[in-house]
Amino acid sequence: MPIHILAIGGSLRRSSYNRLLIEQARRQAPQDAIIEIADLSDVPLYNDDTEAQGFPAPVRRLAAQADRADAFLIATPEYNYSVPGVLKNAIDWLSRAHKAPFAGKPVAIASASASWLGGARAQYHLRQILVYLDARTLNKPELFISTAHEKFSASGELTDPVARQGLFSLLATLTAAARQAEATASDAQAA
Ligand code: FNR
Repeated sequence: MPIHILAIGGSLRRSSYNRLLIEQARRQAPQDAIIEIADLSDVPLYNDDTEAQGFPAPVRRLAAQADRADAFLIATPEYNYSVPGVLKNAIDWLSRAHKAPFAGKPVAIASASASWLGGARAQYHLRQILVYLDARTLNKPELFISTAHEKFSASGELTDPVARQGLFSLLATLTAAARQAEATASDAQAA
């Protein structure tokens, strides 16, 4: 059975580098993995009153995708030294729609930015959020695509060889971690 990875991008921008990175991940996915891409464009701002009336359709769609996922890839820009509201909002909704959407599941983090640090500070804030959600966030490899404008071609291909190799390693590690989690779960069931 292939490993199902849900990729969540932190930017709604049409030519977002993080969106390009996710599309590249789909092209570079390990043979035994399938990457589905979450669409956050119509997820409303979290509001308790809205939730009380029932989860909006875009949230239900996202929650169903998260349920099906064996692992997650989150690619995000850095906004004001942290994660963009769009991403935090999606995580907040997910944490309401399902008791533990990330619990026990491997999560790989990547960031792309035109800046020199490549979104590092946002990654460390995201890690903190994922601690509360009990995700199995990969510590290594770390993937920061700095000066992203120099690393993608005009057609959106990640052309930088070091960045491509970094993405390859991240996806291989994520898939292996998901296989390991699967094996541990089936051992526990058999015991
Ligand atoms: C930014 N950007 C930014 N970059 C950075 O390295 N550190 C930061 O703190 C910020 N803060 C920030 C705030 C806001 C409101 C915006 C709109 C942008 C730059 C941003 O990370 C960069 O443009 C990324 O390339 C955007 O990601 P996408 O849309 O290309 O995926």
